[in-house]
Amino acid sequence: MIKIHSSEITPEHVYLSRRQFLQGMGLVAGHALLTACGARTSPPPAGDSALPTSSATDELGNALTPFDAVTGYNNFYEFTLRKEGVARLTKDFVTEPWTVTVDGLVSQPRTFGMEELLKFTQEERVYRMRCVEAWAMVIPWQGFPLAQLLKAMEPLSSARYVQFETLYDPESMPGQKDKSFPWPYVEGLRLDEALHDLTLLSTGLYGQTLLPQNGAPLRLVVPWKYGFKSIKSIVKITLTEAQPTTLWMAAGPTEYGFWANVNPKVDHPRWSQATERRIGENKRVETLFFNGYADEVADLYPDLDKRSWYY
Ligand code: MTE
Repeated sequence: MIKIHSSEITPEHVYLSRRQFLQGMGLVAGHALLTACGARTSPPPAGDSALPTSSATDELGNALTPFDAVTGYNNFYEFTLRKEGVARLTKDFVTEPWTVTVDGLVSQPRTFGMEELLKFTQEERVYRMRCVEAWAMVIPWQGFPLAQLLKAMEPLSSARYVQFETLYDPESMPGQKDKSFPWPYVEGLRLDEALHDLTLLSTGLYGQTLLPQNGAPLRLVVPWKYGFKSIKSIVKITLTEAQPTTLWMAAGPTEYGFWANVNPKVDHPRWSQATERRIGENKRVETLFFNGYADEVADLYPDLDKRSWYY
């Protein structure tokens, strides 16, 4: 497994500038800011294997989801449709060596070894993750903004979207033998969404290298969109002119669309999106517009009432 050295995780100035960014947006309550700044010495959240992290809450004061829940309750359809068995079934999934190809409408397509991607400054970001199935977690990720990689690749002016692909290998990912899904898992973002500072390529969580069940060695995290946009175990990133067709658009076009922005007022055809179950806690909480990141991302979507932004 690739090790992330602690010195590579969240230099304090990066962490603080993120807090200042949120504070500038009016998103950090004074109390939460104090908690977070003091959190380097705070006890880790409950859960046997919880590891110390630099924050005990998100910027809204929500407690972190325990490490055991983040790594023990997962969606990874390449292995199983069940959530509890993913850690066991992914135990032997080989993530080293690993390469990621960035191609399409960039000036110089390139294939990166994972060790090269780990040279981008790794920072910690505590984000809420809201699954379309109405459960949610609060996770301290490590990673780096996708924008840094994309800018280094010099997108051509014709590039409008970014398509992401998970590894296709039915021998090591037996769920891909189930022909009812159009494998590989594909996701997509509009280029400006992909370049947004909140959009992260994650390499770890809770201060340790990403485990296979969470999408090792590299997964996307887009906190204002439903969790299915946060594609795992990425091997390819392609800049395109046309909007990508994602796995979920192809598999369930009446239920899942391209945008998938979290909105408590637009229900899934089969269930309400008004509230969510926080995994590891015994309560339901109200779901927030854009998952609580509206001040930062609403500008990306003119005509906010347009219903289709939320599919
Ligand atoms: N990526 C791939 N390749 N395969 C998947 O099945 N599930 C998605 C997303 N990324 C999925 C995926 C869904 S529905 C969710 S909610 C999140 O991963 C879950 O991430 P987690 O298991 O790390 O909590």
